[in-house]
Parts: sequence; structure tokens; C-alpha cells
Amino acid sequence: MRQDIRREFAFFHKNNNSVLYHIKTSNFYRVFDSILVEKFKKYFHETAVDEDVFNKLYQLEKSQEENCDVDQKAIQKSNKFVLNRLALVLTSDCNLRCTYCYANFGMYGYREKNIMSEKSLERTIDYFTKKFKKINAIQFFGGEPTLCENQIKYVVEKFAILKEQKNIDYTPSYGLVTNGVRISEQLMEIFKKYNFVITLSVDGPRQIHDSVRRDLAKRGSFDIIKNNYEKMKKIGIEKIAIESTYTNEHVKQGVSLVDVVNFCADHFGDNTPHVVPVAIDEENELSLAKSLQQFETYLVELVNYTFKTLLEGRKVKSTAIVAGLIQKIILKQHSKVICPAGGSTLSVSNDMTIQPCFMYTSEDSTAFGNLDSSGDELLEKAYTFNEKINNKRHVAKCQECFMRSICTSCLGDFQKDDDCLKNTNQVTCSAIRIIGESILLNISEIKADEHKWKRLHCAINGVN
Ligand SMILES: C[S@@+](CC[C@H](N)C(=O)[O-])C[C@H]1O[C@@H](n2cnc3c(N)ncnc32)[C@H](O)[C@@H]1O
Ligand code: SF4
Ligand code: SF4
Repeated sequence: MRQDIRREFAFFHKNNNSVLYHIKTSNFYRVFDSILVEKFKKYFHETAVDEDVFNKLYQLEKSQEENCDVDQKAIQKSNKFVLNRLALVLTSDCNLRCTYCYANFGMYGYREKNIMSEKSLERTIDYFTKKFKKINAIQFFGGEPTLCENQIKYVVEKFAILKEQKNIDYTPSYGLVTNGVRISEQLMEIFKKYNFVITLSVDGPRQIHDSVRRDLAKRGSFDIIKNNYEKMKKIGIEKIAIESTYTNEHVKQGVSLVDVVNFCADHFGDNTPHVVPVAIDEENELSLAKSLQQFETYLVELVNYTFKTLLEGRKVKSTAIVAGLIQKIILKQHSKVICPAGGSTLSVSNDMTIQPCFMYTSEDSTAFGNLDSSGDELLEKAYTFNEKINNKRHVAKCQECFMRSICTSCLGDFQKDDDCLKNTNQVTCSAIRIIGESILLNISEIKADEHKWKRLHCAINGVN
């Protein structure tokens, strides 16, 4: 118990601002008493033994009302289950050769290039619409999905026919993640007609983007993408989000995370882009492990900047990860799972196996089944995956981490090792911890001012 109690809390101190955080509930306490602050510093950072501190924490721990997420719902029958997202990995082909691509330019582990045929898509749609009550969203993925214009057309039209013939009573929403290089006018019309959410991969200013997102002849792709973005806007496609992969190249060129956020807002109208630290071998020149200290400085700067825009009542400028973590900490939204999409998102590619995520494309060991599996069998596998694998409780490193109640991460940063997951990307977790610490220190400072505290709550609930 004596050792355990320390694991239930985290303590941060910066510039006369001290905050004690109870991990299980996300309750936090400002600590004013300077003697206690010194004692906490020693207790948490130097692991000193202190009876007084222990008793205080113990009392606090006993008084906490647990606020963890509800236990997993009882397994439903698949015909009553609403599938949140079905990813279709249309092709293993790609017209770019981004230097960090985790998808192996779309090939994942496949030996030969492939493309999902209309027949495969027909079978997939038939299977999922019959086995499940509803599919909320279809996401086209790759490789590069825009190379499969006919397949995209086929899918949206197939759903329209199924609805017209009253085989289904809904139309899913559509999204696609694209490098934005080849988007024909016909494809743009489809995006517009079917109200697609487009996620464009743009890594920031041209000099950065072009150094990593290049074609086979090593030419950069920025100008083409920007041009296609303008065209899409012009014909009235509203929902265009940005995904930026942040690498050591940004740090080398002095482009901070705040710079990327402002760039996306100014040039692509996205105030909260999804800026993701590159997942790559630490030895690779693009790895942020090479510039961890500077990266951490940029993270703190970004969190401070986010709170500044929040309190100024301006449009919040941040990254999706930081904005999400602020919301989760303040609203105490907890998650046992690593990836919140696990279990309610499924992915199918050319091999017709059903995977928990497109990240696992072509991996036999992770598949939940195939189009011959029963829907209930599939759901059973998905629930087991969430309980036994996609679960921080089973990751040793998470047990020591103060963000374990709050964080959500990408399964791509974890590797399946026998029957559990092992974290392979320490940069992401260390970034989450830095962001968490910085958020808590900001909140604690803001809480000292009733007016600011109210404004923060209004802003957060407004974001909600
Ligand atoms: C694999 S691509 C597939 C879709 C499309 N070809 C594209 O680039 O948008 C999806 C996203 O993953 C990102 N990505 C690729 N490799 C990555 C890595 N090693 N770490 C983090 N994100 C990565 C890309 O930048 C892109 O935004
Ligand atoms: S465009 Fe997408 S799939 Fe192609 S190499 Fe770049 S990140 Fe990989
Ligand atoms: S930040 Fe990483 S180590 Fe910490 S709880 Fe989340 S996934 Fe686990």
C-alpha cells in the first residue's frame, strides 16, 4: 500500500504553481502550502519516505469517487450493432514515396500490388449491411485511395441503390484520407455530391512538405495539393481536414508545432489539424527521438498557446491531440482502451480479412475473421480484443504512467507480442505525458482566477 499510494497520484511544480493529480479520477488539487510543496517534491521526485505525505495522500485516495469508464457493454447481437466505421483499404498502390511511410507506400506486408475489385467490394458491402444494423461511416484508405476512383464511385452508388430499394434505411457518411495529388474533377464531384469528409495529408510549409512527401522522381507535392485544395473549396467541398506528420525535419528547420498549427489555419482553413509525431525507428533521421528536448519545448509552447487562444475567446488553435486531451482532463473522460476506435471500427482490404484497424492490413495474426464469419463471431472477437489486447491494463509501461486513465493513442504505435501489446514508439507516449503535465499546470494556474476558470469551462463546453 505504501508504495502503491504514490502510483495513484502525480505531482507537478513550476514557477510557484503546484498541482497534485489523482490519476484514477482526474481530480486535481492546487497545493499552496510551501512546506507541503517541498514535501511533495521530495516524495514524488526523490521518492523520499514521509509519513505525513503518505497519510494525506491516503486520506485523499479514500475520499475519491471513482470515475472510470463503464464496463464494457454486454455483447450485443451483430444485427443490433451499429458499426461506427468501416475502413476500405482500396489499394496497395501509391503515387508518392513519402520517406517515413509506415504503410510501406501502401504495400503493408503484401508481396504483390493489389486493388479491391468491384466484386470484392460488392461482397464486403453485402456482408456488412446484412450482418450489422447500420454502418455509420465508410472510410476509404490505402495506399492512395484516389487512384481508385471507379471503386469509390461503385461504393457510394451501391449504398444509394441499397437505400432506394429499401434494403437499408440509412446512408453512411463518407471520408477518405488522401495525399491530394491526383483528384480528378469527377472525383471532386463525387466528394461534393456525397458530402465527403476529406483528410488531406499536408506536413506544413512547402519546404518541409516537399522534403518528405515526394513522388517517385523525388519531386515535392505541395503545389499540386494546394491547387487541388483550392479547386475543391471552389466547387463547394466544405469538410477538408488536415493531417500533418511531424518529424525531426520540422525541428531541424525550426518549424515548431505552433507554426504548423498556424500554417494549417492560414492556408487550409483547419484550426485544429491532426498533427501526429512520426512513428519511425529511433535511428531514422526523421525520428523525433533525435531532437527530443526541442520537441518537448515545442509541445509545452503548443499547450500554452492553446490555452491562450481558448481564454482570449478566439477560435481555438491547437492540434486535435492537445485539444482532445484538454477536454478529456477537464471533463474527466476516461478510457481503458488504447485506441478508442477498436471494436467499433473494422477494416477490410484486398485479402478480404476483417481487421480491427487498417494499420494491421495484411497481418494474419490480428484478423477477427473474414466474410464467411458470422457477425456475432466477429463482435465476440472485437470485444475480446478490446478487453485483452487494446487495453492499457495489460501494457506494463502504462501501469507506471500518470496518463493511464486519460490517454488514447494509436494502435500503430504498439506491436502485438503474443497476446498483449508492447509499445514501440516511446516518443508518442512521452509527448502525451509532457502535454498532460503542461495541461495540468495551465489548468491549475487558471483555476486561481474565477473569471478565467469560467471562461475556460464555457470554451470547453462550447467545443463539445
Ligand atoms: C498511410 S497514409 C494513407 C493515405 C494517403 N496515402 C495519405 O498519405 O494521406 C495515411 C496517413 O498516415 C501518415 N503516415 C504515414 N507514415 C507515417 C508514420 N511513419 N508516422 C505517422 N504518420 C504516418 C501519412 O502522412 C498520412 O497522413
Ligand atoms: S502518400 Fe500515403 S501511402 Fe503513399 S507513401 Fe505517402 S503516406 Fe504512404
Ligand atoms: S501515454 Fe503511453 S505509456 Fe502512458 S498510459 Fe498512455 S499508452 Fe500507456
